[in-house]
Amino acid sequence: MHRNALRRLLHARRLTAPLAALALLAAGTGAVAQTAAAPAAGGKVKVGFMLPYTGTYAALGTAIENGFRMYVQQQGGKLGGRDVEYFKVDDESDPAKAPENATKLIRRDQVDVVVGTVHSGVQMGIVKVAKENNTLLIIPNAGVDEATGPLCGPNIFRSSFSNWQPGYAMGHVLAERGMKKVVTLTWKYAAGEQSVKGFKEAFEAKGGKVVKELSLPFPNVEFQALITEVASLKPDAVFVFFAGGGAVKFVKDWQAAGLKDKIPLYGSGFLTDGTLDAQGAAAQGLETTLHYADGLSNARDKSFRLDYAKTYKLQPDVYAVQGYDAAQLLAAGANAVKGDMTRKPDIIKAMEAAKVDSPRGAFTLSKAHNPVQDFYLRKVDGRENKVSSVAVKALADPARGCRL
Ligand code: PHB
Repeated sequence: MHRNALRRLLHARRLTAPLAALALLAAGTGAVAQTAAAPAAGGKVKVGFMLPYTGTYAALGTAIENGFRMYVQQQGGKLGGRDVEYFKVDDESDPAKAPENATKLIRRDQVDVVVGTVHSGVQMGIVKVAKENNTLLIIPNAGVDEATGPLCGPNIFRSSFSNWQPGYAMGHVLAERGMKKVVTLTWKYAAGEQSVKGFKEAFEAKGGKVVKELSLPFPNVEFQALITEVASLKPDAVFVFFAGGGAVKFVKDWQAAGLKDKIPLYGSGFLTDGTLDAQGAAAQGLETTLHYADGLSNARDKSFRLDYAKTYKLQPDVYAVQGYDAAQLLAAGANAVKGDMTRKPDIIKAMEAAKVDSPRGAFTLSKAHNPVQDFYLRKVDGRENKVSSVAVKALADPARGCRL
């Protein structure tokens, strides 16, 4: 953290002089962790949302918070028998601000758990700070492979997916369809790059070839030149990663360029999740892979969707599901210790053993704390990503480099 930023933070918390001096010293050596105060044994369960509330991922952050709050509401507003108190930071999907924002929640607000975030680059900063402070972290979206790979840790959990997973599922589907030559197109940061890696791993293992990997900086939406380049390469298909506001613009631009019926477009399901109202006709018929879909037949999904529509006057999407399941995962831990959030090893043990009754279908966690889950092939029909089939059953991220 920048020393001036830390000074402001310390000032805001009115630390005693010796403690402040110690904290500044620690900042200089990068060893801030030693000064973190332990959370209280009694009182409320303090949840810190670090999510994007502005920018291209703003709607995703809101859906995650909605899902989380809805589950807590269904438990009478309590987890482990304690009331829940919320703290919020807008992370703006800006990786540069991540360490300072995460530190605010952990040190100033003294939260028991950080729930965040959406953007893989921001997530790297949160993981680092959570590890330094030994704070419980539940990742409700960001897929950055490292979080449940080389940077895995006992206090780091994910209720969503790894970037590798949905990409791998689509690589498998396209290879099975006999496609040979694919071009990929993404934002140039971990989420896009690691999706493409997962895609390539499955696709090329079965004889396909990724002939060109195209990208543009996040969150740019000047797609025109790249769309023209894709067309000139004449691939059998295109695989893309885009999400949120950028996904809306990309799908519309693709249709406007006249390619919708010429080159088959596929993506991880973020391309069309939570975006269909805005994409309209341009999205019809698009096929994607994801760990959630419309038209699943489990009872949990039915009641979740009814409650969500009633509470928020909105249809839920994958982000709402991931937020809901982050709360379910935390509940498993908090209930095991009757709300005593100081009993970290017991909380972790209970979360590791949880079978989460998710609207996506029940899932368990891998050793690296990432969901082992089915990936659905979906097809856009009207305002729905209708499930067609299970593309890959019980897919576990390989968790390369994790030593848990
Ligand atoms: C990510 O940055 O990991 C990310 C962002 C948005 C998504 C999926 C993944 O929809």
